[in-house]
Amino acid sequence: MLFKFPTASQAREDEVTPRALFLSRRSLIGGGAAAFAVGGMAGWPSLADAATFQVPTTRKPADVAMDAVTPMKSATTYNNFYEFGTGKSDPADGAKALRTRPWEIVIDGEVAKPITIGIDDLLKFSMEERIYRLRCVEGWSMVIPWVGFPLAELLKRVEPTANAKYVAFQTLLDPERMYGQKSWVLNWPYVEGLRLDEAMHPLTLMAVGMYGETMPNQNGAPIRLVVPWKYGFKSIKSVVKISLVKEQPPTAWNRSQPREYGFFSNVNPDVDHPRWSQATERRVGDFSRRKTLPFNGYGEDVASLYSGMDLRANF
Ligand code: MTE
Repeated sequence: MLFKFPTASQAREDEVTPRALFLSRRSLIGGGAAAFAVGGMAGWPSLADAATFQVPTTRKPADVAMDAVTPMKSATTYNNFYEFGTGKSDPADGAKALRTRPWEIVIDGEVAKPITIGIDDLLKFSMEERIYRLRCVEGWSMVIPWVGFPLAELLKRVEPTANAKYVAFQTLLDPERMYGQKSWVLNWPYVEGLRLDEAMHPLTLMAVGMYGETMPNQNGAPIRLVVPWKYGFKSIKSVVKISLVKEQPPTAWNRSQPREYGFFSNVNPDVDHPRWSQATERRVGDFSRRKTLPFNGYGEDVASLYSGMDLRANF
């Protein structure tokens, strides 16, 4: 299904996010260049709804110096999704057959109101488009317009208790639907984790679409996490479980290679990967490399989460 976003010039005045709201959002999203959100959109349809619909958006306001958005073709054919193979082009092909209905997410653990919620109910949340940089730990990056809602909106509904210090995420475990899980590439299922304050941060998004369309399977359909100031591997795909927990949860890459991948995984040009430098990155589609920004350029918004922490020890 195609979600139709009009360009700013096509949008009616009442559809465009008011400038004051936009400016406050811009500072909320932070990082200047690539980050931008539009106002919440009511009535995100269920996928059963065949009609195309319009979403208010001011995509590229003239007063924001935007990084160029990566072509959709690149973002949907150059992927990491090891449940469908380890090659960059494997997921675009292999994930085609992934059935994403029915799909439920269990939210449990240290919460007053655990829930199991179906994807079609999640699609009724108020959605935003956010253009974020994605920096992979491998040294490439993209700029992607996601469609989704803040994870905080979901977590507030389950009422985390005072014991909840971390949030643990889990991808579907089903080797029949994700054939890569038949090989021991990682200790399946793929798992990830955030500290509770990171999870509640307004930049942290649960994405159900990109480029104005339903999330392509290879990008983590039907719903994935997006944490733009962390290396891409924190942005776990095809999530089925979110648990609020007391202790720091295990994470897939840390479990696999603890010397190379820490729990925090904040983008940090000053801390090299043991096998390569993290000082620069290649934007997919570019020939030359560019400097990597601390916290992927979102430091103004998130650096305070780590004040007093040694970011070399807590990599
Ligand atoms: N989530 C799952 N379940 N499995 C994976 O292999 N790869 C991660 C992350 N989420 C991965 C995952 C890595 S390494 C990156 S860089 C991003 O997804 C890539 O997202 P993209 O393919 O949409 O660019």
